Amino acid sequence: MKRKIELITTSDGSHSLYLPDMNETYHSSHGALTESQHIFIEAGLQSYLNEHPRKPLKILEIGFGTGLNALLTLRYALEHQVSIHFVSLEPFPLQEDVYGVLNYASLFTDEHANAQFLALHEAEWETEVSISDFFVLQKKEQRLEDFSDDTDFDLIFFDAFAPSKQEELWTYEILEKTVGLMGSSAVLVTYCARGQFKRDLAALGLRVETLPGPPGKKEMVRAVKL
Ligand SMILES: C[S@@+](CC[C@H](N)C(=O)[O-])C[C@H]1O[C@@H](n2cnc3c(N)ncnc32)[C@H](O)[C@@H]1O
Repeated sequence: MKRKIELITTSDGSHSLYLPDMNETYHSSHGALTESQHIFIEAGLQSYLNEHPRKPLKILEIGFGTGLNALLTLRYALEHQVSIHFVSLEPFPLQEDVYGVLNYASLFTDEHANAQFLALHEAEWETEVSISDFFVLQKKEQRLEDFSDDTDFDLIFFDAFAPSKQEELWTYEILEKTVGLMGSSAVLVTYCARGQFKRDLAALGLRVETLPGPPGKKEMVRAVKL
């Protein structure tokens, strides 16, 4: 059965999606683009590269969704000429009638953004697809619970739905599995700053940093595997 999905416009003018049956959005209503840029690009990718300059990166994203994090990461890779292998899990891929109306490409002034956004969505699932010289994408139609891989990822974009809506993805067991996918010095970033979540990450041996969140969100988490 097709899920009911509504298009919404967030405070910075960027679109997001709302699932009425779950009463949950894909991004913060205070700005989807601003949130993605703040958490995943600045606190995640940029901060990691500050400590490990020019290193080819392996990133695992939990929830490909609208492809917004992937688009910002691809554009970062091109701008900074850093090689990124981006694996993204998504058990509920969006169809063209939904991703085709998202306005992300129009938020950039250059003429490449639309082609980049479509390339990410149209890329074949399961296989590694070279989107550019600097960016290889592998989308997997899979739940985190069922995912296994020998890769030591450098960065985890943990962008599942909120714990109040999708509790099963924030359990100690799932976090333990996720930490097992991280190499040494790898970093996990997420918008969630719940106490139990932070205690679980610390118990799994990560150094947990609570950072200022994007607009509308006091805090976010960056956790480093020691
Ligand atoms: C908060 S949205 C964020 C999506 C995306 N990062 C974006 O910017 O649009 C959460 C995403 O996780 C996906 N998801 C749901 N259950 C999942 C699971 N068990 N494993 C991995 N992803 C899941 C949802 O379908 C949705 O696309």
